[in-house]
Amino acid sequence: MSAPAPYGPSTLETLRETVVGRNRELELVTAALMGRRHLLLEGPPGTGKSTLLRAVADASDRPFAFVEGNAELTPARLVGHFDPAQVLEAGYSNDVWVDGPLASSLRDGGLLYLEEINRIPEETLNVLVTVMSEGDLTVPRLGRIEAHPEFRLVAAMNPFDAVGTARISGAIYDRMCRVSMDYQSAGDEFDIAQRQISEIDQTFAGKIVELVRATRSHRDVRVGSSVRGAIDTLILCRDLASLRSLPAASRDVGLDASITALSGRIQVHDSATSSPEQIITELYDAIVDAPDDPQSDGDPGDSSGPEPGKARASRPAANPTTNGS
Ligand SMILES: Nc1ncnc2c1ncn2[C@@H]1O[C@H](COP(=O)(O)OP(=O)(O)OP(=O)(O)O)[C@@H](O)[C@H]1O
Ligand SMILES: [Mg+2]
Repeated sequence: MSAPAPYGPSTLETLRETVVGRNRELELVTAALMGRRHLLLEGPPGTGKSTLLRAVADASDRPFAFVEGNAELTPARLVGHFDPAQVLEAGYSNDVWVDGPLASSLRDGGLLYLEEINRIPEETLNVLVTVMSEGDLTVPRLGRIEAHPEFRLVAAMNPFDAVGTARISGAIYDRMCRVSMDYQSAGDEFDIAQRQISEIDQTFAGKIVELVRATRSHRDVRVGSSVRGAIDTLILCRDLASLRSLPAASRDVGLDASITALSGRIQVHDSATSSPEQIITELYDAIVDAPDDPQSDGDPGDSSGPEPGKARASRPAANPTTNGS
């Protein structure tokens, strides 16, 4: 009797328990894996690529190998190598071969997860071209390693990442399905933040999420903060509030927390006239601490505010036109 398929409708159910929202992407990823396709998830930092792929690994009973893509990932580190000391003693033989993550995933039908694939040197990526199209790998002096039918390669990359990255060749793209992961919806970002830090007043937390989202469309900002910035801001608010004996939603706490959590995360344009700190302060004043806002006295109990995470997308600060310059 053949083993049950490792990816199917039940995979999707399990993924939904771990991953907030992303229903379409979860379906696409599951369908690609069911169809024995290799997969690339492409999107800016913090959009949940690793969360999704780790959830896939947890949801299937297949072996899982994680490989961090970087300039030091040589073909030997990915594929495997002959142990040099043993080669000196016994010569080249299968007994002195040590599987790397690619060889073991091929043999065992595992899920090979390549993080930051665009940081992997071209020479190493070229090994994958044959593996993906032919379903096997030939290693000099070792021979052929045939891919188990359940072998899958999933990779993630960040299109904004310009440091130390290689161009992914058309040959690689042509052998993978691609799922684009853009920033989460406001509601999903709010839910993701709530899962990790739930002690903060929801109306205030919704405004912090809105502030973080607004960093992505500010005219002086090249790359804004991901949801990681919202999570860190809210954690800092909670702990700073206790140290200062002030409400988490007070300006003394919220602004310091926002600047600390977000100023290093946003990348400003070379032509920008404002510093990251000034941009965060401007957005904080317009979104979280607006003068006409009953929240501005620091009372976190107000429930008349906008729906958390969906708040006031049309407010000027989401796409500010003035910043004093
Ligand atoms: N859809 C989601 N469901 C649950 N948590 C999420 C989701 N998206 C993001 N997160 C949370 O946001 C943070 C960043 O997510 P993750 O590390 O998966 O992003 P990434 O796309 O892999 O980022 P990078 O490109 O920087 O590696 C994590 O704390 C993760 O738990
Ligand atoms: Mg990641």
